[in-house]
Amino acid sequence: MKILVIGASGRVGGKLVEQLLDDNHQVIGTTRQDKQLFDNSNYSQLDLDLTANKDEIQKQMDDDIEAVYFVAGSGGKDILEVDLHGAVKTMQAAQDKGIQRYIMLSSVYSMDTSKWDNPAIAELKEYYIGKHYADNWLVNDSTLDYTIVQPGALKERAGTGKIAINTNEAGENSIEDVAATLAAVLNADNASKKVFHMQNGDTEIKQAIANL
Ligand SMILES: NC(=O)c1ccc[n+]([C@@H]2O[C@H](COP(=O)([O-])OP(=O)(O)OC[C@H]3O[C@@H](n4cnc5c(N)ncnc54)[C@H](OP(=O)(O)O)[C@@H]3O)[C@@H](O)[C@H]2O)c1
Repeated sequence: MKILVIGASGRVGGKLVEQLLDDNHQVIGTTRQDKQLFDNSNYSQLDLDLTANKDEIQKQMDDDIEAVYFVAGSGGKDILEVDLHGAVKTMQAAQDKGIQRYIMLSSVYSMDTSKWDNPAIAELKEYYIGKHYADNWLVNDSTLDYTIVQPGALKERAGTGKIAINTNEAGENSIEDVAATLAAVLNADNASKKVFHMQNGDTEIKQAIANL
């Protein structure tokens, strides 16, 4: 498949691109950096700025893209423009181009406002608000064939290939396992129109997705 990865230079994005290339997909990765991120004949790169207007973003999307991943984020620096409006513009652009499959990297509790007043995550409240309304646009206002993956804390440690789904605890995640899970939902029929939380666990990723 020809796949657009928005945020290919990120910690998750980089691992996701590697996994998708290993799976023999053709990948277009986005970054505002000049340097070529991957040296692979199935990889090409796009300088896409999420603060650009929706029409400009749409013009940058090739007609034959079959799936879009959104794994970008402002790191709390520009939540409205990037994590919220930036994300929604990519959904609108994908939908208007006739691209159906859209996979969003979100965060645990993005859909559960009752958790946001917990003092342990209070400083992330504005981030959660941004992700909440972006995720809700995808679920309620788009016709896209979405999957929303909601990990807890991202950790730079080796993947185990095993996760737990929908435990309703924040938990930690190896970035490699998050990338592997994002790659695995691409063609999983039962991941379509699903929102799920993930963390490190004991179930093989493929099995955990099959159990959704
Ligand atoms: N940190 C956590 O513990 C955690 C937990 C759960 C979920 N998440 C979610 O996971 C996401 C990815 O995390 P990460 O650590 O992989 O992120 P990261 O390493 O900070 O990467 C951020 C990505 O977003 C892109 N980006 C930022 N601003 C942009 C803009 N204006 N236009 C286009 N691209 C832009 C960057 O591209 P450039 O190369 O152009 O800068 C980069 O590819 C987070 O944003 C968050 O939503 C994080």
